Amino acid sequence: MQRRTPRWEEIKPLVKIRPPGFGPEARLASAASIWDLRKIARRRTPRAPFDYTDGGAEQEVALNKSREVYRRLEFNPTVMRDVSAANPATTILGQPSALPLALSPTGFTRMMQHEGEPAVARAAQRAGVTYALSTLGTVTPEALADAAPGLNRWFQLYLFKDRDFGQELLTRAQASGYSAVILTVDAAIAGARLRDVRNGLTIPPSLTLKTMFDMAMHPSWWYNLLTTEPLEFATFHNFDGTVADLIASVFDPALNWSDVDWMREHWDGPLVIKGIQTVADAERAVDHGADAVIVSNHGGRQLDRAPTTFELLPDVVDAVGDRCEVHVDGGIMDGGDVVAALAQGAKTAWIGRAYLYGLMAGGEHGVDRALQMFSDGIKRTMQLLGVSSVDELERAHIRTR
Ligand SMILES: Cc1cc2nc3c(=O)[nH]c(=O)nc-3n(C[C@H](O)[C@H](O)[C@H](O)COP(=O)(O)O)c2cc1C
Repeated sequence: MQRRTPRWEEIKPLVKIRPPGFGPEARLASAASIWDLRKIARRRTPRAPFDYTDGGAEQEVALNKSREVYRRLEFNPTVMRDVSAANPATTILGQPSALPLALSPTGFTRMMQHEGEPAVARAAQRAGVTYALSTLGTVTPEALADAAPGLNRWFQLYLFKDRDFGQELLTRAQASGYSAVILTVDAAIAGARLRDVRNGLTIPPSLTLKTMFDMAMHPSWWYNLLTTEPLEFATFHNFDGTVADLIASVFDPALNWSDVDWMREHWDGPLVIKGIQTVADAERAVDHGADAVIVSNHGGRQLDRAPTTFELLPDVVDAVGDRCEVHVDGGIMDGGDVVAALAQGAKTAWIGRAYLYGLMAGGEHGVDRALQMFSDGIKRTMQLLGVSSVDELERAHIRTR
């Protein structure tokens, strides 16, 4: 092969050196997947809040299996179908949704990143998807409604020993335009989150010698924490302790099906039961008036070795799918996972950590970025599968081994 000396006129058009950018957009520019957002999140967030978000219960068997199951399946594509008009839009309990996904309720979101729930709500509103505010949120139901008035917002309730307080929260949610309530039923007591124990996580984060050292490593997180309004639960003030302490003091381990009847009396909108892990419980939920069930093991944060939700899903759909909507969550990390969950029978797939990694990586822009990745991934997977609408997705589109 003959070689020659390169000429500057040929090289010049290839040179694209740009000055390094600043701010979240520049930081996020190199992230191509939720896993990349997780890497940025890990760099920017102190270990205790990162692990609180990222981790699961005990040996994290349920958490790991919830993700692995999506790696093991294969798609069965159908080729030569006109997919030029593929559209991932759907409905969620009768309300329009631009994507077949929704953003799960997550407690204490301002601890992950100071912009917290309002940032998530605004990003969800822009993307045209539903977001559920947690009872353990760091913003009140009213303030979230003000932050994103056009959002299809749901309220997630944990039942406390003090039922009057639960009733008050339902009244406030109804008054501020929440269109559905989720009752989470898999947290009668707290799961054992061993990372939190090892990290000595408290709420709010304590200033110890260890955290002082951490300030030097994550200055912007600490600066944001200390220079914005104090971090606390919007529904309990002045709480000081571990998450396990909180759950032990306010959650009611006596939670049972009669409480769902109690809820039906105090909430006249759609009722969703989250944390269903057997077919029999899905049937009970519908018998007690649920309009939707979310097959969920709380992202592997409660009972370790809980059923893998993706595997349980078809049995639940077969049993109650004609009487209520069946949703799923756990381990969903990209658009392909969402499409697989729909093919397996879910009406909506909920995502938790995936958007929190975006929030920790770049605040509101990071959640936008995560949702854009899901939107692109869902549409691309549908098109490559030969599917133009989410209603066409069926079990024949996936092969599980
Ligand atoms: C940091 C964190 C906090 C959570 N807090 C709540 C909560 O307050 N209420 C609730 O019903 N579920 C809560 N969950 C569970 C999520 O709603 C959802 O079931 C789970 O995150 C789905 O799994 P994924 O994270 O793998 O998507 C939380 C999950 C995480 C990661």
